[in-house]
Amino acid sequence: MSLAPSMSHSSLDLGEAKPIIKLTGVSKWYGTRDNPVHALSETDLDIAPGELVVLLGPSGCGKTTLLRMIGGLLEPTQGRIDISGLELWNKGERQGAAVANLGMVFQDAHLFPWLTIEENVALPLKLRGVTKAERMARAQELMNLVKITGFERRWPKELSGGMRQRAAIARALSYGPNILLMDEPFGALDAMTRDSMNVELQRIWQETGKTIIVVTHSISEAVFLADRIVLLSPRPGRIDSIHRVDFPRPRGLDVQASLEFQTLVKTLRRRLAEVE
Ligand SMILES: Nc1ncnc2c1ncn2[C@@H]1O[C@H](COP(=O)(O)OP(=O)(O)O)[C@@H](O)[C@H]1O
Ligand SMILES: [Mg+2]
Repeated sequence: MSLAPSMSHSSLDLGEAKPIIKLTGVSKWYGTRDNPVHALSETDLDIAPGELVVLLGPSGCGKTTLLRMIGGLLEPTQGRIDISGLELWNKGERQGAAVANLGMVFQDAHLFPWLTIEENVALPLKLRGVTKAERMARAQELMNLVKITGFERRWPKELSGGMRQRAAIARALSYGPNILLMDEPFGALDAMTRDSMNVELQRIWQETGKTIIVVTHSISEAVFLADRIVLLSPRPGRIDSIHRVDFPRPRGLDVQASLEFQTLVKTLRRRLAEVE
């Protein structure tokens, strides 16, 4: 097991496998001509199918901007994003076939309070015209995956924050995307719930084989979860370095007590202090 953090180039040696996500020269400016904000600069990144990648960096370094561009919620000012070999944007239009492969989870679950948990999970399928029988069967399967069976008829407000995020994950997976994009998904949860949700996320990832990108500013969360950590630096946001994490899976929370874990945390903390 090689635990030395490797500073590597952003293009990945995928062997024969094509990247499921490919960014080429992606930049983003916000604001007006008089007051432009350069949020992300010339970013190249390849992500392999089934990888669990964490975007780590200080507040304001462009993590959300990058994730929203990959998710098709925000158009790059420059550059190109390919999802499963399909160009995501074409002349200002999102390409539906690429978007269909993307699911998103945010810091708040954004469940509709007037729908039951089951109806929330199945909503994307309803919007896609899937029959009731089919969407209820699919919702059941997903609620089973994220372990919220028994809560089908409950209202969102009756669930804990962690349970609501489980429902949000189930909903994001409902229409069968291969990629799950998560923006500080457990950032609003208490520390203990957050730890157990990270263990659960690892399990869901291992059971489903999805490609997952998680945004966080927590170094220990990044080291616990990631195959690779993409460290971003601010003003403008750019990739500073990429760190491979080779701890065997499934990782238990006790890995955090190991010297190797703490050494990598220390390396990343030092690097973040340098780039901030
Ligand atoms: N809609 C917007 N208009 C103008 N500036 C923005 C907008 N959204 C984000 N920014 C700026 O872009 C930079 C990156 O923001 P963001 O992607 O939210 O960073 P992070 O998620 O890492 O905290 C910050 O300087 C932020 O203030
Ligand atoms: Mg953010």
